[in-house]
Amino acid sequence: MKVLGIESSCDETAAAVVEDGKRILSNTIYSQIRLHRDFGGVVPELASREHIKRIDGVVTVALEEAGCSVEEIDGLAVTRGPGLIGSLLVGISFAKAYSLAVGKPLVGVNHLFSHLYAPELTGEILYPALGLIVSGGHTSLYAADGVLKYRRLARTRDDAAGEILDKVSKELRLGYPGGPVIERLASTGDPKRYPFTFPRFRDGSLDFSFSGLKSAALRIAVEEGERLKREDFAASFQNAIVEYMVEKLVTFIDQALREGRPYRSLLLGGGVARNRRLRERVLEEGERRSLPVFLPEGDLCTDNGAMIAGLGFHYLTAGILYPYAAPPYSRYEPKGYQGEC
Ligand code: KG4
Ligand code: ZN
Repeated sequence: MKVLGIESSCDETAAAVVEDGKRILSNTIYSQIRLHRDFGGVVPELASREHIKRIDGVVTVALEEAGCSVEEIDGLAVTRGPGLIGSLLVGISFAKAYSLAVGKPLVGVNHLFSHLYAPELTGEILYPALGLIVSGGHTSLYAADGVLKYRRLARTRDDAAGEILDKVSKELRLGYPGGPVIERLASTGDPKRYPFTFPRFRDGSLDFSFSGLKSAALRIAVEEGERLKREDFAASFQNAIVEYMVEKLVTFIDQALREGRPYRSLLLGGGVARNRRLRERVLEEGERRSLPVFLPEGDLCTDNGAMIAGLGFHYLTAGILYPYAAPPYSRYEPKGYQGEC
């Protein structure tokens, strides 16, 4: 069964054809990074306009590269949310029109769930798994009991990890997007040079909070002024973000173990999952506990159509179709298992 997946939730216009939820026949991504670089962040209105310009061409290339005609496609999958509402609307409107025009069923896929699914495209996830999704818009931990059986355990209450990398990089005029720039600088820096402390919630919640780390980074930069060693600063800041997330991961692994329902693997997804330090640390913690770690390769970490088409296959086979009249959602994350595409 071949599914055409369409993704337009943020600043990537992407489309892919995936067979049986596993075999990637094409994965076409048009990145808008150059368009937003001068602004140091994604400008929603510009993103929507660029999606409008690109989407037709991206879908055409994805079908061509897959060697597929429209008739050979069994269904369409599109990102329904969360994401930028204007950007989502472009992909959804396109997909609805396409689906009606060619008479193929359409499913609306949850973007965060698709990040949890991405490692299935190159391996066989062992469930139950503990999944960390970490991007410019989200930082959340999920328990994945199976495909489409995702439960959120923790999320950020303010900024996302990628967001503070981007914002601090912008303030210090280091470049855009911040994550890769900071990673590059950090490679020759001393991660112990500048101290960071991790936030704790008084109510004992295990949610994330990144705004304090962002403020601490900006304070250090102001206090150090001309003396700031950029490489050491980048290494210390990156290390703090990575260790904070790893600490949470370990807390949830240990908690599940104590409760007698241990996880069988770890998953990582989202743009920040490209970070080498984070990948190494999660692999280390997995190895220490004999837990396999599923790390998607570069283009499957960041936003792409393959993860939408891949998970879309399961929505289709489960019969969870997109109600054409239903709107996209910008923030809403379904709390429980499927049924609420
Ligand atoms: O998943 P993504 O492409 O888009 C969404 O935000 O949904 O993630 C983009 C984020 C940006 O914040 C970017 O700075 C970060 O991923 N990023 C990285 C790296 N590559 C991208 N962060 C750390 N290290 C990287 N190598
Ligand atoms: Zn994403």
